[in-house]
Amino acid sequence: MRYRVALIGGGIIARNHLDAVGRLDKLEAAAVADTDEGKGRALAEEYGISYYRDYREMVLRERPDIAVIALPHYLHAPCAVWCAEQGCHLLLEKPMALNTAQCDDILAAVKHAGVKLMVGHTQHYKPANILAKRLIQSGELGRLLAIHDTRHQYYYRDNRPGWFLEKEKSGGGILMNLGAHSIDKVQWLTDSRVRRVKAKVTYEGPRGDVEGSGCLFLETDSGLCAVILQSGYEGVARDETELIFTRGMAKLVSSEGLWVSVGGKYEQVQPLPEEDPFILQFEDLLRAIELGVEPDSSGEYARSVIAALEAVYTSDRTGVEQDVGP
Ligand SMILES: NC(=O)c1ccc[n+]([C@@H]2O[C@H](COP(=O)([O-])OP(=O)(O)OC[C@H]3O[C@@H](n4cnc5c(N)ncnc54)[C@H](O)[C@@H]3O)[C@@H](O)[C@H]2O)c1
Repeated sequence: MRYRVALIGGGIIARNHLDAVGRLDKLEAAAVADTDEGKGRALAEEYGISYYRDYREMVLRERPDIAVIALPHYLHAPCAVWCAEQGCHLLLEKPMALNTAQCDDILAAVKHAGVKLMVGHTQHYKPANILAKRLIQSGELGRLLAIHDTRHQYYYRDNRPGWFLEKEKSGGGILMNLGAHSIDKVQWLTDSRVRRVKAKVTYEGPRGDVEGSGCLFLETDSGLCAVILQSGYEGVARDETELIFTRGMAKLVSSEGLWVSVGGKYEQVQPLPEEDPFILQFEDLLRAIELGVEPDSSGEYARSVIAALEAVYTSDRTGVEQDVGP
């Protein structure tokens, strides 16, 4: 069977999804919907698919098997709920929604409709991350004790779509966007969930009303501690995760590779073949649809990332350590 895919939101991440669809025999891109007609039509032309301004009209006419939702965060929940009600399986971009209440609405709609939901936590499909997870599971360096994740990226670049900097539409700044990846990485690498959070964030950006940096101290239900430090202000870009074990250390640069400490120095681990995470993500969704199982990044899983983020913002606001709700 070939599955027809419709894309909702033809922005920055859209091509990654459409390119992956084009490389998978079981998938066929049908159409794209975007309220920005110029952008949407150009994308539709480039990929030889239909364009719609209104995603509801697109779904009702095209009847896709899978809807890929790549919209501003505040539209994730209403769009996912509606598409599930139309019987579409969903690949919903991260972060799942603005808050856990919205996540619960999506989960209820998906359950009621009997469709599959995957949330686009692409970290699960990066070769270096897969190597790091294997290293942790092997016990080669002993027990994993702590993770130190650093992510700096200038967040206020001129070409960043404006909604990312409006809290009402994005749910938050660098932490909601890139922190979602870091929290996901900590949870997924260690097969555990964040259960307690202490956080301090700052609001010093040149525009918008979202946070531009965050320092998070997390504990997982496996007893591990993690520090996540992110800055979206001017500086030096960095994306590095250090893993501290009882018998050594490892340095993970998700887009580059994994280094393991040998004799007091880091040596790179033989890399895995580079595979496109967006292809692996679709393959996982297809497996879930065809075998009736949950994908690696299920809705339930993705909700746990939002629950941790909620605790981050509450901890900053109250100055008090927070337990992450169920
Ligand atoms: N997995 C990853 O690594 C990754 C990377 C980048 C972005 N993302 C996520 O992807 C999502 C989209 O991000 P982006 O960077 O592509 O944003 P973007 O602003 O470039 O794209 C969003 C698009 O949605 C369109 N849109 C807005 N309202 C609409 C509506 N009602 N109907 C149809 N179209 C509408 C906009 O015109 C825009 O083209 C976000 O959730 C973001 O966090 C994930």
